[in-house]
Amino acid sequence: MIHSTVVRVDQNTPTVRSIGFKWDCKVLPGQFIMVWIPGIGEIPISLSSTGNLKEITVKSYGPASDALTKLETGSRIFFRGPYGRPFTLVKGKTLLIGGGSGMASLKPLINERSYAIVSARTRDELLFSDKIHEGNLHLVTDDGSIGIKGTPLNALEKLNLTEFEMIYVCGPEIMLKKIFDSLRGKKVRAEFAMERTMKCGIGVCDSCSIDGLQLCRDGSIFSMEEVMEMEEFGRTKLSESGRRIILNY
Ligand code: FES
Repeated sequence: MIHSTVVRVDQNTPTVRSIGFKWDCKVLPGQFIMVWIPGIGEIPISLSSTGNLKEITVKSYGPASDALTKLETGSRIFFRGPYGRPFTLVKGKTLLIGGGSGMASLKPLINERSYAIVSARTRDELLFSDKIHEGNLHLVTDDGSIGIKGTPLNALEKLNLTEFEMIYVCGPEIMLKKIFDSLRGKKVRAEFAMERTMKCGIGVCDSCSIDGLQLCRDGSIFSMEEVMEMEEFGRTKLSESGRRIILNY
């Protein structure tokens, strides 16, 4: 277990905070760490900054993430990693599609050639849209409080996708599935960041399995071609207790 000290805390949206800490280790965009919260447990979190100062971006979903959002400058943070396969980096124009806190793992990919569709339920919940050049940015909200009212698909259909060298997608599985279905058969390269229950993070417990692959070791980033082979994607997943549950969208 590695430990470090929190050196900065940023409130990104009313419910999302980024926690910065020093960690002298090479981490690639898309990789994650298992963060240990004493007395509660471990959760996987992608790095939202991979430079000298590392950062995780957390929204409170349950006891572990709730405890993380309460860390302050000077608090200790415990973790292990980095784990997982990173995003494939390309030289040309890229399109980032982030739903809700999914923008966190896409943040290390932002550069001057990045375009983005940033979506959230409301205007207040849009994450890291301020990091994208205004002319390259498409905002989408469920309630229409800013940008297009609807889903990232409504923005996607207005773009010429052949311009992009790569499309990176991260967000809830329903969003991933809809985007995957709309890109299927088109001449595009895309990678999807998937989420499953993770317990060990190192390919031992099988809690994160999808079609015989393990997200923690074989993913959690998968290409279009790999997703195409998955029967369980968008259909079922394992619960915390190991029971297979049907994803009802
Ligand atoms: S989290 Fe244990 S095998 Fe992936």
